[in-house]
Amino acid sequence: MLFDTHAHLDDGRFDEDRQQVIEQCKAEGVELILNAASNLHTSIKSIALAKEHDFIYASVGVHPHDAKSMDSKSIDVLRDLSLNPKVKAIGEIGLDYHYDFSPREVQKQRFMEQIDLAKQLKLPIIVHDRESHGDIMEIFKKMDVKNMGGVLHSFSGSLEMARECLKLGFYLSISGPITFKNNVKTIEVVKEIPLEMLLIETDSPYLTPVPYRGQRNYPGYVRYVAEKIAEIKGISFEEVAKKTLENGKRLFDI
Ligand code: NI
Repeated sequence: MLFDTHAHLDDGRFDEDRQQVIEQCKAEGVELILNAASNLHTSIKSIALAKEHDFIYASVGVHPHDAKSMDSKSIDVLRDLSLNPKVKAIGEIGLDYHYDFSPREVQKQRFMEQIDLAKQLKLPIIVHDRESHGDIMEIFKKMDVKNMGGVLHSFSGSLEMARECLKLGFYLSISGPITFKNNVKTIEVVKEIPLEMLLIETDSPYLTPVPYRGQRNYPGYVRYVAEKIAEIKGISFEEVAKKTLENGKRLFDI
């Protein structure tokens, strides 16, 4: 009954044992997985995975790291790929000022173009925001994203930003770092934000939660994120699993 709303099962780190890993997800009670794309190549791979497995869905989009690789035809390619019925979102898209792999002006431009595409297609967006909170909110305002549907994946902003995102109708997705010691900011967010607006995710193979921190992550570990949210909110694991599953199904129209 768990929904891992953000995984990268197409990643090379699963090449050796992907099939086995996917079977293991089911054994761990993972009912749905959204496999998020990060460029045109992984968009195609995501769709292929979703076609092979009933319980896997896909997004298509270009991550800010790869924004510089987009050209005038990229949006049309994404539009064509989105026609597949298993594509449920545009993402992950956004800004990453931690690595700055693409120039910031290019990141912003490509982010806005993909928001525009999502609006045309009436699909929600999966937003990547790393050390770029201010510009993300500025683009949200400029692009008038209110009620278009979306999620701030692996949310790392302040409580104040969380509240602003909620006003726009955006969900916040919580990942492995919530289990790390002293993650005061995100614990505060989880405590205050209604369960109805939270999603859970692994971002696997990255962001592995405690007690497996340091090892490869996979969607089965999303239960540790749910357990931590349950502990913070003082409710049962089952309630967190059930509600976040419902939330994800609502957002992604599954
Ligand atoms: Ni990701």
